[in-house]
Amino acid sequence: MTSLEPSVAFATSLRCSLGGGDGRVSELKKDLENQLVLAPLTKGGNYAFRRLCTEFGAKVTVSEMAYARKVGKGDRKERTLFVRSENEGIFGAQIATNNCAEAVSACNYAQENGAKFLDLNCGCPIREVTRRGLGSALMRKPHKLVALVERMVSECSLPVTVKIRTGLEEDADAEKVLELVRDLGHVGASAVTIHGRTAQQRYSGNANWDLISKVSAESGVDVIGNGDILTAYEAKDRLADSGCLAVMTGRGALIKPWLFSEFEKDYTWNPTPMERIGVYRTLVRFMKERFRDDEKGRLRSFEFLRFHMDFFSRYRYFPEEEHRERSKEYPLIQQREKADLGFRDADVPPIEVLLQRPVDTVNLDALLGFLWDSGSDHEATRLFEEEALSLRKQTLLACSAGE
Ligand SMILES: Cc1cc2nc3c(=O)[nH]c(=O)nc-3n(C[C@H](O)[C@H](O)[C@H](O)COP(=O)(O)O)c2cc1C
Repeated sequence: MTSLEPSVAFATSLRCSLGGGDGRVSELKKDLENQLVLAPLTKGGNYAFRRLCTEFGAKVTVSEMAYARKVGKGDRKERTLFVRSENEGIFGAQIATNNCAEAVSACNYAQENGAKFLDLNCGCPIREVTRRGLGSALMRKPHKLVALVERMVSECSLPVTVKIRTGLEEDADAEKVLELVRDLGHVGASAVTIHGRTAQQRYSGNANWDLISKVSAESGVDVIGNGDILTAYEAKDRLADSGCLAVMTGRGALIKPWLFSEFEKDYTWNPTPMERIGVYRTLVRFMKERFRDDEKGRLRSFEFLRFHMDFFSRYRYFPEEEHRERSKEYPLIQQREKADLGFRDADVPPIEVLLQRPVDTVNLDALLGFLWDSGSDHEATRLFEEEALSLRKQTLLACSAGE
């Protein structure tokens, strides 16, 4: 008999006692089914940004990772991470913890704030988290992790989901992941999100969708597949080909928050510069509403907006006819145009070049000022155009001076 068997029996009897299925679980399953989920994103998944994604049609969103201990102790900053925006649908609260009591008190707070599920972070590879035995460090001792999740499932009032990577070291071991996911399912995890890279890989290499598909097919557990989704057609293809319950996007949403609308309506939108500026201004508006439209609010919002502009500048258009087939082998997020568009290129409108420039090569705070202070998308676009023309002039002058 393995150490897990009594737990399996317990979980099964719990499900049976709830009438052939834990009501919390099956309801969440319905909510997640075939969705494109907004990933938990530290800094990126702030209240205003989640509100923006929801406005674009995201039905399921997850909070930034919060330390359960701090949430339980009433730490104001940490608790803020669980504030759900009014328009959000199914909202998950993500915690870092290795302790069930901490998870329970964080869960109670999350539930009071409208969260519909509790997600345990087992993927974060950063030292600050793993040295405390949290995040991906939990994957070092799978039996302990499964025992923790088992207790969480029985003691927390929300359904529990778990977010893992494909392993710790460079090479993922599909059999080990399969066993872990099966065990997590046996003790009652409602779903397991798999980010298709190991902790050591961080973001390098393509996400391993073969492994995700295998685990989804063979574990009998609802899997949310995650990694490298940038376009609606990649989301649809990954969902169909992997057999996952749902798919999740992180950087794709940060680069183009309208991805959720593309996914919902099954099309590709290539917004004009003014339309993109309109999207950024909507985010600014949500920031103003969150932090206030005053000097303090502006300073606070700019911290987030600098981060967001960095991702927004990575937007490139990938027409479906040209890229859909190739994207299955070569995820587009890994293929993004790396070359910096030159202001010497007369065919590309200067504003387009400006919007694509790495943020450390532009006067970022001036651009944020245009977004913050303008009264309309038109006005902001005109200011961006003027800035773009002046940058083009400077570039041409520098070139003719032989720099
Ligand atoms: C800026 C940033 C912050 C992240 N923060 C978290 C986090 O708080 N919790 C978590 O589980 N994963 C976090 N991740 C990982 C993402 O949730 C996701 O698993 C990863 O980005 C892979 O998905 P993608 O290829 O769609 O970006 C973060 C990723 C990024 C880029």
